[in-house]
Amino acid sequence: MATLPGIYATIFSLVAAGVILEKILRCRFITPLRNFPGPFLASITDKWLLYYDLAGLRTLKIHELHRRYGPVVRIGPNELSFSDVSVVNQIYGQQTAFMKAPASQDEEPGTIYESMSLQPLGIFSLREKAAHSHRRSLLSHAFSQQNINDCTALIMQKVDLLVEMFEKDVSRQPDVFLRFRLFALDVVGELFLGSSFGGLEAGTAPQFLHDMDDFFLLGGLEYQFYAVVALLRRLPLAGLQSFLACRERVAQLGNSTFQKYIERHGRESKRKDLLTKILSPQQEKNLMSDRETYVEIGNLVFAGTDTTSTTLTYLFWALARFPDWQNSIRVELREKLGDNVRGPYDYQAIGNLPVLEAVINEGLRLYPAAPASLPRIVPDGGWQYNSHTIPARTVVSMQCYTTQRDPLAFPEPDKFIPGRWLDVEPTADMKTLFMPFSKGTRACLGKGLAMLELKLVLVALLSRYEVTLPVQTTEESMEMRDHFLVVPRSGKCELHFEPVTSEVEGQ
Ligand code: HEM
Repeated sequence: MATLPGIYATIFSLVAAGVILEKILRCRFITPLRNFPGPFLASITDKWLLYYDLAGLRTLKIHELHRRYGPVVRIGPNELSFSDVSVVNQIYGQQTAFMKAPASQDEEPGTIYESMSLQPLGIFSLREKAAHSHRRSLLSHAFSQQNINDCTALIMQKVDLLVEMFEKDVSRQPDVFLRFRLFALDVVGELFLGSSFGGLEAGTAPQFLHDMDDFFLLGGLEYQFYAVVALLRRLPLAGLQSFLACRERVAQLGNSTFQKYIERHGRESKRKDLLTKILSPQQEKNLMSDRETYVEIGNLVFAGTDTTSTTLTYLFWALARFPDWQNSIRVELREKLGDNVRGPYDYQAIGNLPVLEAVINEGLRLYPAAPASLPRIVPDGGWQYNSHTIPARTVVSMQCYTTQRDPLAFPEPDKFIPGRWLDVEPTADMKTLFMPFSKGTRACLGKGLAMLELKLVLVALLSRYEVTLPVQTTEESMEMRDHFLVVPRSGKCELHFEPVTSEVEGQ
């Protein structure tokens, strides 16, 4: 005769089996997404991507799926990934009704965008259209090309410190990944907080960089395992609590640095940085509170650090493997800048170097620092895609890692060929599919600043050094791992730097 616990266990098993069966039937046979191809597990659980997310392999996995299944792949019960030139502007264009997506249909507390911001939310994480447009209108004037150009001298101070680091250990094989992180962090510190973090002088990562890494790790954990993190907060373990307090440390540092800036420079300073430009128009209207301002600045420091440093890292790695392109840049610098090749530069001179620009574009195409899906949500009323009706609130995304490897627009897509941007005018499809800074209303606000930094560093280092590849830096060690932003698999990129000989310089 069955015991009472045995009966309960049977009932529980039947109920659980029923729930799972109902979910499978709904996900496989009822939803309009059933006709899109993709792995079976992805269609029934959004935890399928979790393994790839945690392993830093999400982007590569989705890329592989597009190669296997074509331009649309179902990557979750409610999520589609696209690689189709005809929909880029619908999803990401200026007029789009597709907003940044929450984590799930239930709008759980930890969403991917919200997990990446302090509270109150900053520009990057505001999903609602009106709130985002308002914030963007308050910030975008600070990023005008003229204001960015005016920052050249401040950025050059950091470039000079970076060059000093290389001068000190010529012929060795420094880790450029770390150096470019220190550089990019010090630049945004100077421009948004009025003082750098001192990483370039010290040659080691400041505490803030560790806090920033922890901040992203914590955000990712909360996004995936919200309840577990809530539980961890109750455990009396000092190391754990210190890790969990990284957000407060970042917020406190933002606050104290901001207050020092106001004491030193006032709210209407003439200093040629970007914080001044953010603050001054707010004088009369008091549009953002101090808390909103320094939180936003913290977000800008985040947004402007690892994106720029990772791009520089992969650019130098590519150039180390393709020395002919280093030489082409040097020839162009000689022709266009003459004796002025080591500065001081005016932006016009640096801004108009086609070979340099082509190399940067090709680096951003093959190794975008933010290569992953940028999730958006189908607006009310649904979306007609070819013969399919995709329901409202479906999550749709494109990843530039894949769009920028479209073999029709970019022949030999996995090869580093800067000439594709030089020899002929890029085609309309190339322009549409090339989206390392995203597109439209949510496109990167810091693109002009990033491009200036990339150019200044490339010019400064390539005019002085030949870069070659040591044996330990390989395709495997540089394989991309992404946790929204990319890091090399080995966590470093060691390259060899030798002073340029006059023979090479004069080519
Ligand atoms: C090579 C360097 C960079 C790359 C590849 C890059 C890439 C991107 C991408 C792909 C987005 C869109 C993200 C999304 O829709 O989810 C974005 C947004 C953004 N980026 Fe960048 N970024 C770079 C540098 C910078 C810098 C230097 C700053 C400023 C300090 C910056 C500030 C921002 C901001 C504020 C947004 C949010 C814009 C909005 O939602 O309105 N970025 N960036």
